[in-house]
Amino acid sequence: MERENFGSKLGVVLAAAGSAVGLGNIWRFPVETGQNGGAAFIIVYLICIVLLGIPIMMSEFFIGRSTHLNAAGAYRKLAPGTKWNWVGRLGVLTGFIILSYYSVVAGWTAQYTVLSVANYFDGKSATDYIQIFNDCSANPWLSISAMLGFMLLTHFVVVRGVKSGIEKFSKVMMPALFIIIIILVICSVSLPGASKGVEYLLKPDFSKIDGSVILSAMGQAFFSLSLGLGCLCTYASYFDKDTNLGKTAFKVSIIDSFVAIMAGFIIFPAVFNIGYQLEGSDVGPSLIFITLPNVFQQSFTSLPILSYLFAVMFYFLLVVAALTSTISMHEVVTAYVSEEFNMIRRKAAWIVTLTCSFVGLFCALSFGPLSNVKIFGFSLFDFFDYVSSNIFLPVGGLLISIFIGWYLDKKYVKEEITNGGTIRVPYFKAFILILRYVAPIAIGLILLNQLGLFAFMK
Ligand code: PHE
Repeated sequence: MERENFGSKLGVVLAAAGSAVGLGNIWRFPVETGQNGGAAFIIVYLICIVLLGIPIMMSEFFIGRSTHLNAAGAYRKLAPGTKWNWVGRLGVLTGFIILSYYSVVAGWTAQYTVLSVANYFDGKSATDYIQIFNDCSANPWLSISAMLGFMLLTHFVVVRGVKSGIEKFSKVMMPALFIIIIILVICSVSLPGASKGVEYLLKPDFSKIDGSVILSAMGQAFFSLSLGLGCLCTYASYFDKDTNLGKTAFKVSIIDSFVAIMAGFIIFPAVFNIGYQLEGSDVGPSLIFITLPNVFQQSFTSLPILSYLFAVMFYFLLVVAALTSTISMHEVVTAYVSEEFNMIRRKAAWIVTLTCSFVGLFCALSFGPLSNVKIFGFSLFDFFDYVSSNIFLPVGGLLISIFIGWYLDKKYVKEEITNGGTIRVPYFKAFILILRYVAPIAIGLILLNQLGLFAFMK
């Protein structure tokens, strides 16, 4: 089957950054930062990005680009006759699961965009926002149709292919996303009382760092960079031979961290401005859907049009960020189905869309009619989130680092990372050292701690 490549270097960076930048940055990062003590968490998070994120991203790029195959096929080619291709298969399964529940939250962001465009938040009280969120998430029809709509949007970009679908979409949407972010940051930090929020993000209190803060920071780094499930490996299978893998990983990580921190600068000054203390329910997962609409309304009481525009831009930003990420998850599974089962792309994409929507249906219903159905005490949605982000992603990252650090011939790895010796990679030794020791030990500890098998810190 003829395989496409990305058309330009900028397209490569923007598509990979599109995968990385998502609800993880704008929704999960501020919540995690708020729950883990602010600036100190951000510093630990950034250390995780540099020490684990960039090397593992480079590894995924290496696996994809050196084989030009889907996640499972890539391992089969690099390690024929072994069980390593199961790492790829696990990744595809993880992508499938994340796509199913992520589309539900993405559907809410679409509902909120519509509501904010219709000026529905105008004149509402704090309790109204709780009701609005309950209506959006617990009403089966609303929640399911929004999820299905989002899945279809994703589908139509993916079926158009790598160059005229994914790359073209990212090239238009990512710059739009940066512009919206900058406007929102400027608005937010110029609010009266914003300085408390800025201080919260910039003044670390190191006494706040403990084991659970470090673990959350690592988990967040994985999720946010889309690592551990072969997503960036699949994208890299469409890279040209002269793409600099190290530089690309570096750029994508910088963009991703920048957007996450900017999301903090949008949200915290605005939240402090209206006197919320970052405690209790103000900063839970409902931050974006219950706390923020209220913040937007109260921030510009003398100029309501600004409240309106702020809300519309913010929710639109979430939709775009979520969409470039769902596209990348869909692509991992579509490339796998299409190549491993020898199927045309369109048919493979439909199979993925329909089966994912089916599973997504149950995730959506777990906020309403199925809220009593529990697996190991979790709702279906929480179970999928927990298993995929907290177990499958770290396991994927651990296996990737062992695969490259211990299994593969380093000469071959070096040949590919240096583009056949044509570019200098002075950090190659450090890269291997991290994959051999630092990453497996660190990730192994996260996993054991998360599973409650071994507590190495409070
Ligand atoms: N990185 C995305 C985000 O921050 C989520 C994601 C995870 C996307 C795994 C693809 C694969 O929202």
